[in-house]
Amino acid sequence: MIRERFDPWTALMPPAEARSSVLAGLSEKIGQMWDRVRDRPIGPITGSHDRRQWLQQFTFERPLPLEDFASGLVDVLSDGILLSQHPRCFGLFNPTPSFPGVVADLVTAAVNPQLAVTSHAPLATEIEAHLIKALATRIWSTGQLDGHFTSGGAEANMTAALLALTAALPEYAERGVRAFGGAPVLYASRESHFAWFKIAHQLGIGRDAVRLVATDGLGRMDITALQAAISRDKAAGDTPFLVVATAGTTNAGMIDPLEGCAEVAARHDCWFHVDAAWGGALLSSPDQHKALPGIEHAHSATVDAHKFFSVPMGAGMLLTRRGDMLGEAFRVSASYMPSNDPDADPYVRSAQWSRRFTGLKLFATLSVLGWPGVWQVVSRQIDLADLLATSLLKLGFRVHNASRMGVVCFSHDAVPAAELVRQVQDSQQAWISLAMFEESAVARACVTSFRATEEDVGALLAVLDLAVARSGAS
Ligand SMILES: Cc1ncc(COP(=O)(O)O)c(C=O)c1O
Repeated sequence: MIRERFDPWTALMPPAEARSSVLAGLSEKIGQMWDRVRDRPIGPITGSHDRRQWLQQFTFERPLPLEDFASGLVDVLSDGILLSQHPRCFGLFNPTPSFPGVVADLVTAAVNPQLAVTSHAPLATEIEAHLIKALATRIWSTGQLDGHFTSGGAEANMTAALLALTAALPEYAERGVRAFGGAPVLYASRESHFAWFKIAHQLGIGRDAVRLVATDGLGRMDITALQAAISRDKAAGDTPFLVVATAGTTNAGMIDPLEGCAEVAARHDCWFHVDAAWGGALLSSPDQHKALPGIEHAHSATVDAHKFFSVPMGAGMLLTRRGDMLGEAFRVSASYMPSNDPDADPYVRSAQWSRRFTGLKLFATLSVLGWPGVWQVVSRQIDLADLLATSLLKLGFRVHNASRMGVVCFSHDAVPAAELVRQVQDSQQAWISLAMFEESAVARACVTSFRATEEDVGALLAVLDLAVARSGAS
């Protein structure tokens, strides 16, 4: 039988010239995407019919030449998504990825270190430990400072809940929730990120274990309500084990009263976690110890590098001053692993087993900018949101939140929030989202791109102004 002359090994690793040609083509396409992004619609541009049609060519019945495939990928992909790196994408917190972060992610994929055990990737694990220390020391001055990179904030928060359960009752490690006398319950504000429900489900404590605490009318946890909820649950025989404060609520960028939450948590022997997935970037400020006052009381904190630090997804971090608990929560021994050192090997100190070198993209970005550079970028995004808020007020909009985090929740009496959002999205000139804040529907605009400028804010304002004018209200 004569076989087709297809060589899969060459397809997997083409010769140098072919590789260079593919990489050069990609570099050109990616460069065009970045350089022309402001002039293009935000997307998705292609409809579901176009996407399905494009996909139909991939039957996998015959091999495709990489060059044909790769050169079109950047355009097809960027046309088929909401382009969160567009400077006028005032969206959920998916930033424009930093160039150093993109370069680092390429290097990570090419070199492909395996960070499950330290001995396989000593430098990579040391780089991540160095970064974790650099972040943790901006929060705490004492304790066993430790942590690791996660896929994102949800995994980091889940890890915090697991540490909290294990710290509350060491028998939990073997016997699970059956070890608790009363049902373990956790507290987060109703403005918190709702991965807490999924986390409670996954940890076996059940979604009912999440107590959503009332807010104070300004989007921050109401301390009196927190205290009352814990007392009520204790009286009913439940076991409060975790208080979560959010530093940068998802809808409105509000910061819970960290000192007050810490006090209540301590009074009731609860683990105190600060979800600073987004707000953690304020720690880049030169006054880092005043940036999030009270965070130093936390036993653990979540910070997402793939939000305000502008690194490509996904890169979260779980930081803790109770490093001793990581080994307790994730210990395991497997004969096929080279070692299982709970003080060193990431797979026995975190939820993941095989582990990508997530930290390199933050290492690259932070090295190139330094803390002062990160702060310059973060504070400019915050200033742009402040400019948006003051301009909206001048145009007759209501601004609902007073955030230090670069996000504006707003409405207009003449046009429902959903309609404002629809008109902005349909314009393809800018993108904002619909949210609920303190029980009101609001339009939400968050400055997520470090490439956003005053002109981009002006362009969004123009679309909003037009929406109001069309309603006949102005
Ligand atoms: C406050 C907060 N915590 C946690 C998360 C979840 O993070 P991730 O999407 O990185 O898993 C988010 C996401 O927006 C968030 O805003």
